[in-house]
Amino acid sequence: MIELHSMETNKSFTLHTFGCQMNQADAQRIRGILLHLGYRETENEEESDLILFNTCSVRQHAEERLFGRIRSLNPLKKQKPSLIIGVSGCMAQNHKAELLKELPMIDLVFGPNDINQLPQLLQETSEKKALGSFAGKGTFEGETADGIVLARPFSAMVNIIRGCTNFCSYCIVPYVRGPEISRPMNELLAYISDLASKGVKEIMLLGQNVNVYGKDLGMKEGFATLLEEIEKIDGIKWVRFLTSHPRDFTEDAIKRISNLTKVCEQYHLPFQAGNNRILELMRRGYTRERYIELIKQVRRNIPNVSLSTDIICGFPSETEEEFEDTINLVKEIRYESAYMYYYSPRPGTKAASMKEQLSDEVKKGRLARLIEVQNQISNEESQKQVGKTFEVLVESSASRSENKMLGKTRTGRPVDFEGDASLIGTFVKVKIDSARNWTLSGKIID
Ligand code: SAH
Ligand code: SF4
Ligand code: F3S
Repeated sequence: MIELHSMETNKSFTLHTFGCQMNQADAQRIRGILLHLGYRETENEEESDLILFNTCSVRQHAEERLFGRIRSLNPLKKQKPSLIIGVSGCMAQNHKAELLKELPMIDLVFGPNDINQLPQLLQETSEKKALGSFAGKGTFEGETADGIVLARPFSAMVNIIRGCTNFCSYCIVPYVRGPEISRPMNELLAYISDLASKGVKEIMLLGQNVNVYGKDLGMKEGFATLLEEIEKIDGIKWVRFLTSHPRDFTEDAIKRISNLTKVCEQYHLPFQAGNNRILELMRRGYTRERYIELIKQVRRNIPNVSLSTDIICGFPSETEEEFEDTINLVKEIRYESAYMYYYSPRPGTKAASMKEQLSDEVKKGRLARLIEVQNQISNEESQKQVGKTFEVLVESSASRSENKMLGKTRTGRPVDFEGDASLIGTFVKVKIDSARNWTLSGKIID
């Protein structure tokens, strides 16, 4: 157990989180620790005593932007030398002490597996620059309902599996997050029950590959079993999960999940590339044909499912024809949305040392074409939602208008409608009357 002594302090912090949901979940814990230490959260960097960047290393562009962002704090740091600038998350793990050398204004660096050390590290910063231990393995210590602070009290992210052992050839994540470890099921169920008793209604189960949940604990189809157990927890109404790995999602699991009423009809199934030679070079462990079969199984078993994906274009040696296999897969499946990237070489990964790297021009050109195709499909799929009625979890006031609220459907789409703040955290039925891009608009019925 980590010990946190609540202290009186008039200090405040600003937390910036980048990257994937893992980092968002880590932010819940970091926020929990800091508030417990007596810090107050502020968005105003100028009044802040601690500015912390919870970072992502997955693409070079993200890293470069962060360097720029931290450099831009130089004047503030000069003006207020007591200001602590910290870097956590995957870039911290990836670059460790290097960060302190390259950016001397940084005082504190710790990795995703060092979050429990934050109270001690903060104490150290009063005398010297502080570094986490960069333990290779993640633990679930400190991930308790009391140890986290939720951005929205009715919605929580829950890590079910930390790390990744897949080593897709392009990806930095296994190097920075360590090996796959599942959180024991009894611990998870107790934690989720605890969250439910505190008013949490929606949970998002997280892992780089949720479909292998429990494998390292000797379970078979542990993910489906876990979902069946969560279904029984009173108070939890909606369950989502991210990310599924197409190689490890079985039809048996899909069938079992289709019987559960709480699991939302939102499937994120990253395919990365539509061509078999590229998929093999990426070490994804499935073929285009197997992937298409999986989509059919999902659509057969989960009516009204919303599908999304991740795609990389311009992987080393990808030809024009091979890229077109990606385009035609997107057209064939018709995803409601997609996260699309051009390949970014990550030093230390297998693909980064391949000789046939493509030029930025080719990579960016392909990405632009892909985005255009997908945007048109996304818009057409959005228009198909008009006239439908959705159950919506009300999340916040819409920023543009006072009496407009913003919520989310079970399929993960944002919806705005007229209503007031007393609805936040409740479920309403909304009939959709228009759609623009990804967001829907409608009216509450009954
Ligand atoms: N575990 C998830 C992905 C996590 S990383 C999965 O296997 O699907 C999120 C996304 O970033 C990936 O799906 C991939 O599309 C993208 N990505 C990862 N490494 C990348 C790289 N080197 N260049 C470009 N995109 C990358
Ligand atoms: Fe990266 Fe592959 Fe692991 Fe996803 S499954 S995090 S893409 S190595
Ligand atoms: Fe980025 Fe780390 Fe997630 S590299 S995508 S924040 S696991």
